[in-house]
Amino acid sequence: MIIIKTKTGLTAYLKTLKIKNLKLGFVPTMGALHQGHLSLIKSARLENDYVICSIFINPTQFNNQSDFKHYPVTLEKDIEKLITEGCDVLFIPNENDIYSQGSLLKKFVLDDLEHILEGFYRPGHFQGVCQIVDILLGLVHPDNLYLGQKDYQQCMVIKRLIQQQNFKDIIIKIMPTIREKDGLAMSSRNMRLSHAQREKATHIYKSLIYIQQNFKKIPKQDLEQNAKQHLEMSGFKVDYVSIVDAQTLQNLNNKSTIALIAASIDDIRLIDNLIIN
Ligand code: PAF
Repeated sequence: MIIIKTKTGLTAYLKTLKIKNLKLGFVPTMGALHQGHLSLIKSARLENDYVICSIFINPTQFNNQSDFKHYPVTLEKDIEKLITEGCDVLFIPNENDIYSQGSLLKKFVLDDLEHILEGFYRPGHFQGVCQIVDILLGLVHPDNLYLGQKDYQQCMVIKRLIQQQNFKDIIIKIMPTIREKDGLAMSSRNMRLSHAQREKATHIYKSLIYIQQNFKKIPKQDLEQNAKQHLEMSGFKVDYVSIVDAQTLQNLNNKSTIALIAASIDDIRLIDNLIIN
């Protein structure tokens, strides 16, 4: 695996691949790689000639400085895992190189997506995600872009970004959430959980399953309220339990339904979701 640390290095290297007409699969990450990330690399490996992964803890998408400061960094292990999975290129840029003058002035039109659910509780977060993804896609311009369903709203935001910017030929592949045996969605932030916090964390998935199993029997508002209460009694501070239309994240319309949860144990904020029908 080749490790490239600068934008100019990456651009020069990719030029040699594009000349050869190779199909590129891209997996953007913030590192602290787990099986969820590796499943994206595996799919990219199967479906492309060349696999590129980036690791960059993007400061502009953190609305909470403590979350940024404590974000896990495991670069050596990440490199070993990527080599094992057959990744071809790892891009690890630094902040000054990524955000050259002017790139932070760009604003993205995300409409309601920017203000509901994650957008509401993490102001500025999705503009930050768009800033970095816009830069990365501009550099890599892959054929296929791999994202995890765990960050469901982020997937919708990036789809919107791709439509707006000059990336309409990039295909987004949204891969299923990978879970621990007890259902906890894999997340880099799980590394920060103590043993006791880790035990509690499974209640998020249990709440999603409760919603799924009772969706036809119990009114939506009651399901949301019951799940919220259950999480609070299990020691969470709940930002939202929301059952909404899976295409719009707005009111249900009897087509596809998704339940989404964001809740914190102490200062560790976890999100998860489950398609209900
Ligand atoms: O999901 C993530 O890890 C990040 O939000 C992403 C897409 C790599 C952008 O920094």
